[in-house]
Amino acid sequence: ASAKTTLRVNGQRRELDVDTRTTLLDALREHLKLTGTKKGCDQGQCGACTVIVNGRRINSCLSLAVMHDGDEVTTIEGLGTPGKLHPMQAAFVKHDGYQCGYCTPGQICSALSVIEEIRAGIPSHVSADLNVKPLLSMDEIRERMSGNICRCGAYSNILDAIAEVAG
Ligand code: FES
Repeated sequence: ASAKTTLRVNGQRRELDVDTRTTLLDALREHLKLTGTKKGCDQGQCGACTVIVNGRRINSCLSLAVMHDGDEVTTIEGLGTPGKLHPMQAAFVKHDGYQCGYCTPGQICSALSVIEEIRAGIPSHVSADLNVKPLLSMDEIRERMSGNICRCGAYSNILDAIAEVAG
């Protein structure tokens, strides 16, 4: 069965008529042609498909498009343009935070959410176990970025880029 779903994607209202089994990832890539969001594992294990929905990051491969009627979705295409990069994109360029680049859109969407999560005081299991308020520390950022896999192993550069934006 198909269903009508309306999303707000990168500030624009987008109407979809998709099969109820279509993931948000496939809706973005195949229906809306927003191919910046990548499909790695399609099973919630790599983070390549990370997008920001209503201010929180999700693995879009694990979510059905029809569950997002009325939601605000931000993808890498909504963050910057080649001529005017988002500060997080600029930091990834500056710190060589990628090699092949396949994981980068998900890394960047995740990174922006991680900074927001920490600023909002949302504990990771590290800070929850220690019963401390989360800080914008390298350890906290590393822990929260652990769901975003980089097959090239550019992790230290990725963390440097995020730390710079986190201040
Ligand atoms: Fe969604 Fe890997 S493609 S987590």
